[in-house]
Amino acid sequence: MFPKKLHKKLEERKANNALRQLGTQCNLVDFSSNDYLGFSKSKTIFNSTHEFLIGHNITHNGATGSRLLSGNHSLFNIIETLLSNFHNSESALIFNSGYDANVGFFSSIPQRGDIILYDEYIHASIRDGIKLSNAKAYKFKHNNLEDLGSHLERGLEHSPETNIYIVTESVFSMDGDSPDLKGIVQLCKKHHTFLIIDEAHAVGVFGERGAGLVQHLKLEKNIFARIITFGKAIGTHGAVIIGSESLKQYLVNFSRSFIYTTALPPHTLSNIHSAYHELIITKNREQLHKNMAHFKNEIIKNGLQNYFIESHSAIHSCIISGNDTVKRIAQKFQELGFNIKPILSPTVPKEQERLRFCLHAFNSEGDISDVLKLLATFVHI
Ligand SMILES: Cc1ncc(COP(=O)(O)O)c(C=O)c1O
Repeated sequence: MFPKKLHKKLEERKANNALRQLGTQCNLVDFSSNDYLGFSKSKTIFNSTHEFLIGHNITHNGATGSRLLSGNHSLFNIIETLLSNFHNSESALIFNSGYDANVGFFSSIPQRGDIILYDEYIHASIRDGIKLSNAKAYKFKHNNLEDLGSHLERGLEHSPETNIYIVTESVFSMDGDSPDLKGIVQLCKKHHTFLIIDEAHAVGVFGERGAGLVQHLKLEKNIFARIITFGKAIGTHGAVIIGSESLKQYLVNFSRSFIYTTALPPHTLSNIHSAYHELIITKNREQLHKNMAHFKNEIIKNGLQNYFIESHSAIHSCIISGNDTVKRIAQKFQELGFNIKPILSPTVPKEQERLRFCLHAFNSEGDISDVLKLLATFVHI
């Protein structure tokens, strides 16, 4: 027995060639993971994570409860202090994942009568948080300051009690592009609004010591909250919300995805600690940037500029319209040894289906050249 309505939805997915299925991990050349610096497979980080636990005589496997009950291990304080120093902020609050952080933030901070303005391509976790909020939410056109400005002008007609929250990503997960952050900060200042930046795909990749785009642009004092995830360049799991001491206190009291869940285990905390130490000394970021530059050169060499969304990040998306076509090309790549994921509608809008190339420090120049040569043969026919 399975509800008919749900069965119908699955059948629709199949008909659109958009049924999601769990695959197995493979040993193909990685152009799809978020492991931009290769930290997830770093033996150094693995060993220092272990040594740190042993050195501190920590032998617990699990957290045993919510951070507000039995789960607030002493490592949380050590690592949140490290994170707030590293990210140049007053405070830091660790969540179990980026998804939890965004849902917890947006469901608790904007209040009834407030307004949220969000970029139309914002991540699903932010959308889900917004859905749980009592505030009114309006989307603005992707990376379009003019559209955001006109929404703000309209927002001003509301009561003086209304707080306006603006949210965007410093590197967009599906497009790899970035907004004009300085321009958005100017707008926020002019209209006295609160700015939230999701730095999931920027931390580790941009900024001195990989601290992210906000710090690279020296904008941290103008941002109400930054969301940083540890599952991407940091190579582990979890997330942190960076902001003021009052923000932290508020979230600890009202953010339900922080309160009603078992805390991260000590091993993950030690892993985050080790990865942040590695961020300071690693040469992988330089290599990643060399690979990013090489990828862009090869796009031009192979005449592929018109297929790619302009990006300066580690994410490069090649638009290939139609779920059938993009899936077929991804399959060909996999048969030839390259792991490149098709991004299908409805994850992205129809006609905007794409192959998403995620670049890493460990990709070789040869692999990058080969993969784009192949792409040219697939799309130029
Ligand atoms: C922009 C953005 N924010 C948040 C998340 C969620 O982070 P996590 O994977 O830690 O739940 C992701 C990951 O997909 C993301 O791309």
